Amino acid sequence: MKRIAVIPGDGIGIDVTRESMRVLRRVNDVFGARLEFVEFDWGADKYLKEGISLPAGAFEMLRKDFDAILFGAIGDPRVPDQRHAAEILLALRFGLDLYANVRPVRLFHEKLCPLKGVRVEDVNFTVIRENTEGAYVNSGGVFKKGTPDEVATQLEIHTRKGVSRIIDYAFEYAQRNGKTKVCMSDKSNVMGYAGDLWQRCFKEAAARNPGIQMSHLYIDALCLLMVRQPKDFQVIVTNNMFGDIGTDLAAALQGGLGMAASGNIHPNAVSLFEPVHGSSPPLAGKNLANPMGSIWTAAMMLEHLGLTDAAQAVEKAVIAGVAESQTTPDIGGTLGTREVGDAVLAKL
Ligand code: IPM
Ligand code: MN
Repeated sequence: MKRIAVIPGDGIGIDVTRESMRVLRRVNDVFGARLEFVEFDWGADKYLKEGISLPAGAFEMLRKDFDAILFGAIGDPRVPDQRHAAEILLALRFGLDLYANVRPVRLFHEKLCPLKGVRVEDVNFTVIRENTEGAYVNSGGVFKKGTPDEVATQLEIHTRKGVSRIIDYAFEYAQRNGKTKVCMSDKSNVMGYAGDLWQRCFKEAAARNPGIQMSHLYIDALCLLMVRQPKDFQVIVTNNMFGDIGTDLAAALQGGLGMAASGNIHPNAVSLFEPVHGSSPPLAGKNLANPMGSIWTAAMMLEHLGLTDAAQAVEKAVIAGVAESQTTPDIGGTLGTREVGDAVLAKL
């Protein structure tokens, strides 16, 4: 038996998680998976009503009582500074030490790619994004606020432990998935101190993994080459902010944010799975959001839980749905969120 904490969050997070939950319930019926679900209403509504973002004791409870977390999306215009998003999603990433943000970039059908002449086998790489430090520590300060002399500082934190473990994770991921190349991306030509640490950790890890070909690109060059020659890439490892930006770009290669999946992983502890897209308030509750990113995310979670057959079946169902254009308008179809869910269910 596996216990899953479900956090739909805000906006379309609720719409798409409803569909991936139907898929997971079907997985229980068809594969005897014995998944148990507990839903949590953490998000903007609760925050605005009760002033609670993440309840006290949440980390311990998730770590102790659950095998995985399925997350929807977070963000709501009624919370202008999106404080609850930081206090829920970023806090879960930091508090549960989910240091590897694993974002597979795969093209399920060539019609989804905005580039000319790109085949499905040309877009098949994974971005391993550092997920607990870098610019996301939000460290810094402000001085003389609101005056013409105002000063703001925003620090990035890169630790040897944090950098070396994410680079090691990328090499292990490559080994485990039969990949032969790892590309590290930074901006060490400008950000010399952090860049030097990343460079040294990367060379040390590469020396421990002689079978894997290593390469390095500055993040700006990586962005260019991901578009021009996506087939050059297998595993990319980078820092938190570059990984955030780069994976939105990479999602465009797959058909947009609606198709992108991710896992926030700690290899030996409870991990959190979420589609890459945000809460998209204008689409929320209108049966318009693409649930495929969330359903594929559920497949990643199944794989992580060792339910490989079920994971592959769900992934195949999504790919077949795309091939048959049983999709939402963002990727060229005419169906609603719910109907895409129906179509995937029908293939399981
Ligand atoms: C993502 C999102 C988050 C991030 C936001 C919602 C804080 O953009 O998961 O990519 O910046 O990490
Ligand atoms: Mn992002």
